[in-house]
Amino acid sequence: MNTISSLHADRRRQFLQHIGTGIAVIPAAFEQTRNDDVDHEFRQDSAFFFLTGFPEPDAVAVLDAGRFTLFVRPRDREMETWNGYRAGVDGAVDRYGADDAYPIDDLEAVLQDRLIGHSNLYYAWGGRLDSRMSALLGKLPPLHERFGYRVPSTIADPTPIIDELRLRKSPAEAELLRKASEISAAGHVEAMRYAAPGLFEYQVQAAMEFVFRQHGSARNGYPSIVASGANATVLHYTQNDRRMEEGDLLLIDAAAEYGYFSADITRTFPVSGRFSGPQRAIYEIVLAAEKAGIAAAVPGATMRGIHQTCTRVLTEGLVDLGLLPKGVDDSIAMHHYREFFMHGTGHWLGMDVHDAGTYKVDGEHRRLEPGMAFTVEPGIYVRADREIATFHLLEYDLDEWTERRLKLGVKAARAIEAAELEEAKTIEHSVPAEFRAIGIRVEDDILLNATGNVNMTAGVPVEIEDVEALCHEVSGLAD
Ligand code: GLY
Ligand code: MN
Ligand code: MN
Repeated sequence: MNTISSLHADRRRQFLQHIGTGIAVIPAAFEQTRNDDVDHEFRQDSAFFFLTGFPEPDAVAVLDAGRFTLFVRPRDREMETWNGYRAGVDGAVDRYGADDAYPIDDLEAVLQDRLIGHSNLYYAWGGRLDSRMSALLGKLPPLHERFGYRVPSTIADPTPIIDELRLRKSPAEAELLRKASEISAAGHVEAMRYAAPGLFEYQVQAAMEFVFRQHGSARNGYPSIVASGANATVLHYTQNDRRMEEGDLLLIDAAAEYGYFSADITRTFPVSGRFSGPQRAIYEIVLAAEKAGIAAAVPGATMRGIHQTCTRVLTEGLVDLGLLPKGVDDSIAMHHYREFFMHGTGHWLGMDVHDAGTYKVDGEHRRLEPGMAFTVEPGIYVRADREIATFHLLEYDLDEWTERRLKLGVKAARAIEAAELEEAKTIEHSVPAEFRAIGIRVEDDILLNATGNVNMTAGVPVEIEDVEALCHEVSGLAD
């Protein structure tokens, strides 16, 4: 078995310790049709891949203490001629370490026997396998106990178990994440060299993604955001089709995937090679907030604590620049900074860019531990059309609002929020014209160790003079 499959075998061992005498049925991802006989790009489900390392669609893994069984698409010469190779039943055993394997069409017949003897089934309802699973469970013999054998009487979701395992990166996993970060950093460095007024955003995207591929990444961790000018104030902008102009900033949020791990980097830089005064002023605040956030990322801290640290630094800067109508404490208590910083400061990072794992445990913010990986990504976004901003004079607890959204649903909670804000007094505050249409985010990938953290994406410059110097370098990809 190669390194990858021993990685998956280790994970299966850990997972099985958690499910004890239970049996788990874990489906792979399915292909999604784009049009006619063309599918969207296939990417394996992360939880399935985490446990199996098996990259093909239409597969199911069955795990219990005794066995790792894979149900897979069988070899089929004609289908493989059209759609690509299949490992088949033999490949599932020989190359992916399954103890046994069957064609996917045999799932019900084999599983019917395998479920007998297990009281607990681990299966996550809500996927395309549901109808097959419920039909199968309906067929299990009802008089089992009397004859001395059991069938599942409880069905539990295995996702929380898998998510907890994914949250703490083993040294081998951390190495894959580090490699994804290193490749991503190389792409961003090239983008800074390559970008220039007159080019389209997608051309810079192509130069960066070429470097991702060149360094061994087969795909991106998520769609690249290459946002120039006012587009940078749109958080999830992915159109990437604007022609850049002299004086623009370019915000790039993009990363490579490597070994099924994704980095997540954002840099914002001047396409002409020099920040203007207002751009520099905002950039310095964002960078100071990011540095404070990274310094606060130590074992025992919480993601919420890091967010609060960044929020305070950003708010201080926004107040200094005259973008907020009140002082720092009021602006935080009334969340006025959210006019310009409306997202969280970070998220877990791993096989998925927004990786698995809860942020709270038993109602408390989770304490960070060595092996956890996450982003720190403060930003300031000043809308192009916001000449006057309206701020409500209402203090509220963001945690309580979030809790209410979870309890009542977003729609109902939003209606209550709107009513509360409606009753509050407001202040109108003009947004200085020189800051409008500026969007700046800086994002790095942090891995916690026993004493502090490592910034895995420090290979892309963040200091203003380093960024400007790199922007002036000539790309080897430019013609
Ligand atoms: N690239 C997605 C994010 O930063 O969360
Ligand atoms: Mn991110
Ligand atoms: Mn990002």
